[in-house]
Amino acid sequence: MSATAPRPFSLRNSLHRALRSRLASTLAYPHGVDRYVEHFAPTFSLSEVRAEVVAVRHQTADSVTLSLRPNGNWQGFRAGQYVRLTVEIDGVRRIRCYSPANSVHATDGLIELTAKTHAGGFVSKHLKQGLRAGMTVGLSQAEGRFALPDVRPARVLLISGGSGITPVMSMLRTLIDEQYRGAITFLHYSNAAKDQIYAAELAEIAARHPNVTVLRGYAEAQQGGELEGLFCRAHLNAVPDFGEAEAFLCGPPGMMKAVQALWADEGLSARLHVEHFSAAPVVVDSANADGDVQFARSERYAKNTGATLLDQAESAGLKPESGCRMGICHACTCVKKAGRVRDTRTGEISDAGEAEIQICVSVPVGSVTLDL
Ligand SMILES: Cc1cc2nc3c(=O)[nH]c(=O)nc-3n(C[C@H](O)[C@H](O)[C@H](O)COP(=O)(O)OP(=O)(O)OC[C@H]3O[C@@H](n4cnc5c(N)ncnc54)[C@H](O)[C@@H]3O)c2cc1C
Ligand code: FES
Repeated sequence: MSATAPRPFSLRNSLHRALRSRLASTLAYPHGVDRYVEHFAPTFSLSEVRAEVVAVRHQTADSVTLSLRPNGNWQGFRAGQYVRLTVEIDGVRRIRCYSPANSVHATDGLIELTAKTHAGGFVSKHLKQGLRAGMTVGLSQAEGRFALPDVRPARVLLISGGSGITPVMSMLRTLIDEQYRGAITFLHYSNAAKDQIYAAELAEIAARHPNVTVLRGYAEAQQGGELEGLFCRAHLNAVPDFGEAEAFLCGPPGMMKAVQALWADEGLSARLHVEHFSAAPVVVDSANADGDVQFARSERYAKNTGATLLDQAESAGLKPESGCRMGICHACTCVKKAGRVRDTRTGEISDAGEAEIQICVSVPVGSVTLDL
């Protein structure tokens, strides 16, 4: 670039400074500067991460891969972490978690998300059918503890099933970019060869890098995988030193349970790092609900319907932070000021004092006050 190259940056910085000024926020009150600027610059925000969809590809019939260009508020991620993606569907903001699959060293400034579409799934279906290049989506900063450690392990084992490949694909791509010299074994499970996401790239990586072994297992017969059927002990015969590896696991609940049980039997649980994409559905008992829910900060009350506190807050017109809506991501954590709640996952009833709770998996037991 020529000597005048820095000018767009200083112009942009000055513009940002002006939009952050007290005068700008006064003029834009009560909606805020973002609401005005987004009409001509949809990904602009003073503080939120927004991203332009730059490409949509369909690797398999039931998946979609999005390339997103985040705005300058994006702070990057560690391989394995996830983001909360916000899309508007029929005027309603929907939030779900997705794990970037790209290398953290990618130089194109893009984030790659791949979603499997679930029959009846609200957001994943919209991502496949409704998103087009040029549209804007909202993102959180990266979150989650499932990530490659800063000091790379000497031996790495990646195990994934279905769409659970995304966070470990990011780990693999990151290690390849770093010219990692340790041995990497990648066990990946899918229903059939036609459903396998990232199939061609995995084969190409294995062919190019002698330290990477990819072993594919398919639920359906005669798909050409190196492993027979679903995960089992015998599959580890191909990885005799699996106990020396740091193992990273993400996949459907049944598969994860089987791997976790085996690692526990071997006394290796501390070396197994897991990411859950789904949890058991939340069960609520509306028939026996009593008491009120008080949202203290917003000064609203509602009759307790027995639904989760997240659902009840939304029904009361509030917009609390949320993500997975199943107790995994902690985005919905807020302070319960008073009252007892039941954790729908364990059935455990809290005491009545002040405590942080995940409102997507908490239902009131009588009257409850939330700091919302
Ligand atoms: C930390 C984290 C990271 C994630 N990363 C990815 C990712 O990279 N790629 C990806 O495809 N998904 C990922 N997910 C799952 C994703 O957030 C959504 O749950 C999924 O896309 C379904 O959303 P939906 O709106 O289409 O379905 P919903 O409308 O929420 O649910 C519709 C139906 O699908 C079922 N369902 C929902 N989620 C799942 C699931 N994961 N497996 C099986 N059944 C399900 C529900 O029980 C329900 O019956 C991640 C989840 C978490 C918590
Ligand atoms: S929304 Fe993820 S834990 Fe509640």
